[in-house]
Amino acid sequence: MHQTIIILDFGSQVTQLIARRVRELNVYCEIHPWNKIPDLHDNVKGVILGGSPFSVLQENAPVPHVEDITSKFPVLGICYGAQLIAKLNGGEVARSTHREYGRANLQIVESSASLMKEVPLNSQVWMSHGDTILNAGADAEVICSTKDVPFAGYKIKNKNIFGVQFHPEVYHSTDGKQVLANFVIDICGCKGDWTPSSFVDETVAELKAKLGNDSVIMGLSGGVDSTVAAVLIHKAIGDRLHCIFVDNGLLRKNEFQQVLDGYLNMGLNVKGVDATQKFYKALDGLSEPEAKRKAIGKAFIDVFDEESKKDNDAKWLGQGTIYPDVIESVSVSGGPSQTIKSHHNVGGLPDYMKLSVVEPLRLLFKDEVRRVGKAIGIKDEILGRHPFPGPGLGIRILGEITPEKVRILQEVDSIWVGSLKKENLYDEVWQAGAILLPVQSVGVMGDERTYEQAVALRAVNSTDGMTADWSRLPHEFLAAVSNEIINKVKGVNRVVYDISSKPPATIEWE
Ligand code: XMP
Repeated sequence: MHQTIIILDFGSQVTQLIARRVRELNVYCEIHPWNKIPDLHDNVKGVILGGSPFSVLQENAPVPHVEDITSKFPVLGICYGAQLIAKLNGGEVARSTHREYGRANLQIVESSASLMKEVPLNSQVWMSHGDTILNAGADAEVICSTKDVPFAGYKIKNKNIFGVQFHPEVYHSTDGKQVLANFVIDICGCKGDWTPSSFVDETVAELKAKLGNDSVIMGLSGGVDSTVAAVLIHKAIGDRLHCIFVDNGLLRKNEFQQVLDGYLNMGLNVKGVDATQKFYKALDGLSEPEAKRKAIGKAFIDVFDEESKKDNDAKWLGQGTIYPDVIESVSVSGGPSQTIKSHHNVGGLPDYMKLSVVEPLRLLFKDEVRRVGKAIGIKDEILGRHPFPGPGLGIRILGEITPEKVRILQEVDSIWVGSLKKENLYDEVWQAGAILLPVQSVGVMGDERTYEQAVALRAVNSTDGMTADWSRLPHEFLAAVSNEIINKVKGVNRVVYDISSKPPATIEWE
């Protein structure tokens, strides 16, 4: 078990960022809801209290029982966390006269305070709070201030308890990483030994112990997560891992064969299953997005069930689940959060399949999965692949799906993604895809009137898919792609570029 930092989540949008920054310091950390504090075992070295959409002044503000924590561990409160500790320490928090959002600079820095070590004067910090600390209790001393915020940071004397009202976890806080390193490494005493290669060695050893002589079956998607998970399991149990890669008829052009060949080169034991007709049949006549997603999800499970029955020895199901799917989110409104889109590949298989689940990546963020993938020699081509949704082109053909529409979209998508690669723009964007619109429009080709389909091109920049902005690609490049699509893809006479950000739009159109 590694040295661990516990992060208590109070519902802030950026709690995961704190965890990612701590992990960048090669220190293992876990996020837990404020009201479900885990067992604070011997390896816990410190606790961070995160931000929150709540105000400590609200009656229903989340207040955990922190006495156990503050008496035993170094603690860092960030934003709401800092205000909470200040209040519990007998200090005073008030609504600020003006909300403090955006950039500010530290005008006073007590660099002798361990938390502020090597943080220069004028260092830029990112503020985002509506309340402000007037004092943090009689035994608190200020360790940094900005023009508008005297208590930007404080320490409780003779204790390793700190608070900062700025957000050290966001990149706009230029020395934020230094502040977190000071806390995690110097104050908590973490060694920083959570590295990709230590993760690989430990995970393979754990998998060996857990799986013994059992077999595992696993559905691969061709994407980064399932591939890295499969290679780790393969390292532990070799050919007792049986993988399945399904052609659902909604893959990209030539993707089925290319992905199968790639897996073969990695030494994985993969069976390709052509279930194209089964999926088309399940989708016949459906045009409503959720109905399509559910039909695709069910067809996957049916195929998987049939295949797993042929493998009587399998006791385990391998999955590429990653940490953001596992973190229990804190509900801010108190009610269940609304389902925007049902991702069928999250949530596992129905009970009747009687398989236990093994998820070697459940503790990792996406960027860590890539680093682990690199450490075990997976090619950059796979590691740098854009995300591709489980339902594939099925949710990029708006409305009803037909084999002819799939053909058209595969051609368009192949030109679009191929051009991004050719012009070295593929790695500049986080995800790109084409959408076939249920719209026909008039055009003119030669002397002839055409009445054909319109397609939309989408390319976005993002870090995790939760928010995204459209990619500002060069106009000349877009013009050339549009020409090539209209000239080469029969049935398409119009190309548009999607310039919506998420929110309020989403990345996929369905
Ligand atoms: P949205 O459209 O919700 O997409 O902004 C965010 C990210 O999730 C991907 N996505 C899916 N991935 N199964 C998946 O594996 C799905 O059902 C699914 N729907 C959306 C989408 O491609 C983007 O990366």
